[in-house]
Amino acid sequence: MTQAEPLIRNISDTALLAAVYRARETVRHDALFRDPLARRLAGTRGEQIAKSMPFSDRNTWAWVVRTYLFDQFIEEQCRQGVDMVVNLAAGLDTRPYRMSLPATLRWIEVDLPGILSYKEEILADEKPVCTLERVRLDLSDVSARREVFAQLGNRAAKILIFTEGFIIYFNADQVRVLAEDLAAPATFQRWILDMASPGLLKLLQKNMNISLSEGVSSLQFGPEEGPEFFVPCGWQPVDVRTPLKTAARFKRLSFGMRLLSLLPVSNGRQGSRPWSGVCLLAKP
Ligand SMILES: C[S@@+](CC[C@H](N)C(=O)[O-])C[C@H]1O[C@@H](n2cnc3c(N)ncnc32)[C@H](O)[C@@H]1O
Repeated sequence: MTQAEPLIRNISDTALLAAVYRARETVRHDALFRDPLARRLAGTRGEQIAKSMPFSDRNTWAWVVRTYLFDQFIEEQCRQGVDMVVNLAAGLDTRPYRMSLPATLRWIEVDLPGILSYKEEILADEKPVCTLERVRLDLSDVSARREVFAQLGNRAAKILIFTEGFIIYFNADQVRVLAEDLAAPATFQRWILDMASPGLLKLLQKNMNISLSEGVSSLQFGPEEGPEFFVPCGWQPVDVRTPLKTAARFKRLSFGMRLLSLLPVSNGRQGSRPWSGVCLLAKP
């Protein structure tokens, strides 16, 4: 008897899902961004994964608005003179091809070897608008990543890090140490990340069912403290934007979610309330 291969074979397959939603956004008449390479990158496997996750499919707005908010922050930071951008857990992100970025900007993508090789093969004939390098690295390997961060830190003056759809897969201790490692190089000056409240984490664990080993959900990080979690690690939240409010502004929500979006927002402790934020952190 042969055992069928699971639809989500490893953590990198979640990158296909993100590409599916960017591809769908691209063909909307009111698209918040266009990513012409996303369809090819998502492939039929990405669509199969999306179909197997009806909860995620019903909440496409959350993926799309997250990307939109990261785009906004990145553009603002580039205007303020960032000379290197480091995309940790870049997956199938194509910002160096689709965004209007300074040609002198150095852009580094970090992810696991398999997904980067898949991406490179598909994008072989495409030209990025700035200098682009890819680093194959397991970000849970602490000593290897410290070495990479130290090397990158020496190559530019003002570096922006971002992690989109990544830290939720680490537990709180792993995120704490990662944050401290990112705080170490003096030139790592800004960090954009997205994060969930404990309430949203629970909802996602129940509905997204991304389980990669023995029934354990791979979704883990949703700290009680909210963005303040990062303060003892050397990072100060300076701007927190809420995808729900943004989605309401662009009329992307169902009636029920629209009602929820009318509640006043705070960016502190959320308790059991489902909340997500896209946060810009800086060194104090
Ligand atoms: C949900 S995808 C997000 C990808 C991309 N940032 C985006 O928004 O489209 C999560 C990504 O995290 C990467 N990832 C997960 N664990 C990792 C690790 N230990 N080291 C490096 N990358 C990792 C996966 O390969 C995948 O590309």
